[in-house]
Amino acid sequence: MDTYQKLSLKAATFVASQIILKPDSVLGLATGATPLGMYRQLVTMYEKGLVDFKEVTTFNLDEYLGLDEKDPQSYSYYMHYNFFQHVNIEPQKRHIPRGQAENRERTCREYDEAMDGAGGIDLQILGVGLNGHIGFNEPDCKLQTATHVVQLTQDTIKANSRYFECLEQVPRQAISMGMASIMQARKVLLLASGASKKEVIQQAVGGEITTECPVTLLQLHPDVTIMVDKEAAPLL
Ligand code: PGA
Repeated sequence: MDTYQKLSLKAATFVASQIILKPDSVLGLATGATPLGMYRQLVTMYEKGLVDFKEVTTFNLDEYLGLDEKDPQSYSYYMHYNFFQHVNIEPQKRHIPRGQAENRERTCREYDEAMDGAGGIDLQILGVGLNGHIGFNEPDCKLQTATHVVQLTQDTIKANSRYFECLEQVPRQAISMGMASIMQARKVLLLASGASKKEVIQQAVGGEITTECPVTLLQLHPDVTIMVDKEAAPLL
């Protein structure tokens, strides 16, 4: 795709097609800068009556630990502000890990049980970190399968500090969906935009499969669509 705008429109069309074909789809949702344009396009499609979210269920990939859901830096706030408040997904069908959970283990377990109870994810939307993380599954010698508490890497803390006033304000921990939920999604849509993502996209598509770059595991998934803009594509 030439531009970020075209990428966003195509991604939104892909998601809308999923919902039109299966109105009660379970979507796995991502936050970050990359899917923002896609959410905007989906809102426009909804306003024009082209797509209806009333039977859709959603599960977000991750949330910072320690942030209140009303904190503008939380992913709950991001989802509400950029998407949920504009469309008709029923509140009880929207799921985001609770960043203020007192019992974290139970929260993680219940998140997985809710995903299983919904029948698993039909379409998982993913961005990718510069270090290859998907969700907050950070590069490591081993990866977690289930929803879990993550210690964010310095690379991620630094990359995400662009949204905070200073580095110190970036939470050090998060709750993330595990690799099993992502790999068991029936379809995956991976989005990337901008020159900074060109190396990681090259690795995602043709690099050695390694837990040190979690996005490379998607090479083992049977149904992945990768959409990138021109700037993220030169090494492909
Ligand atoms: P971004 O984040 O879309 O803001 O680049 C992607 C990620 O870190 O997963």
